[in-house]
Amino acid sequence: MMDGKVIILGIESSCDETAASITANGREILSNIVSTQIKDHAPFGGVVPEIAARKHVEMAIPVVDEALKVAGVTPEQVDAIAVTYGPGLAGALLSGIATAKGLAYGWNKPLIAVHHISGHISANYLDHQDLEPPFICLVASGGHSNIVAVEGYGQYRLLGHTRDDAAGEAFDKVAKVMGLPYPGGIRIDELAIKGDAQAYKFPTTRFEKGCLDFSFSGIKTAVMNTVNSIRSSGQELPLEDIAASFQAAVTGVLCRHTFEAAEREGYNTVCVAGGVGANSELRRRMTAAGAARGMRVCLPSKPLCGDNAAMISCAGYYKYIDGQFADMTLDAVTRDNSIYH
Ligand code: KG4
Ligand code: ZN
Repeated sequence: MMDGKVIILGIESSCDETAASITANGREILSNIVSTQIKDHAPFGGVVPEIAARKHVEMAIPVVDEALKVAGVTPEQVDAIAVTYGPGLAGALLSGIATAKGLAYGWNKPLIAVHHISGHISANYLDHQDLEPPFICLVASGGHSNIVAVEGYGQYRLLGHTRDDAAGEAFDKVAKVMGLPYPGGIRIDELAIKGDAQAYKFPTTRFEKGCLDFSFSGIKTAVMNTVNSIRSSGQELPLEDIAASFQAAVTGVLCRHTFEAAEREGYNTVCVAGGVGANSELRRRMTAAGAARGMRVCLPSKPLCGDNAAMISCAGYYKYIDGQFADMTLDAVTRDNSIYH
């Protein structure tokens, strides 16, 4: 405890960011340290699991030290250690879990297991202090595209999910096809600003009426075919127009399904979470769609959309006050849908 507030150390290492954060009473960020491995994976055009795991081992303790230092918190003041247990890369997760267990044992503090998606959703609580469930949350990241009914803290119902690629994965794969450097999602966003979104018609898959699922592999193939035919005709690729047209199609379906979910469930608040939540077109569309329907739209600030540990610390806080603790048998779970009922 510090100044009568519950202090949670959060640790995140599910993919390519080693992160540690201190929050007070769940919603106040005292520090949020992220060490990214982008430059380590860039030469390979994507995340290399073995490199990720090794980098996490190297960076975990320095990042935790920095989080404590910036927050001005001592280990004695930490009430619990929250760590991402999954889903994610096995070796990467294990490094964070081993660090959290070691600290919990050494400092004699309780351990809390946080689901990565629950973390992403909780990023909204950090930037919107008055936000409370229930709300609909679109979770769009490199590994997930879900529409979730958030019924309470840590209480989730899955309404829609991707049947193939995640939205962020589609951004990254299309960027690769366009010859853009890794990580591609943000480059598409930057190029699209100057492009014409009407230049190409890239179709998005439609399922039966009322179905909130996504499919992004078809649009990826459509972009690939367009790029190949332009290249084989010897013309220069209109990168900005392709980026804008692709981005409009993907953000359009993400936004449409999210508001369909809110209307169907009778929810008045819509939130966004995950790395793709940083996409400027998605943010613009969500804000406009909310305003048109008189619904509240909450977007996490861009740094809190991507992987970070403040979101894990926040989700951990709500498990702490609910008395949900893990023990030393905690293990990594690479694929896990157990948060949904
Ligand atoms: O949540 P996140 O950091 O990691 C996972 O849990 O997957 O999401 C990373 C994903 C990547 O696919 C990345 O390309 C995408 O988010 N991303 C974006 C943007 N910034 C990150 N996609 C589109 N536009 C962006 N501005
Ligand atoms: Zn993530």
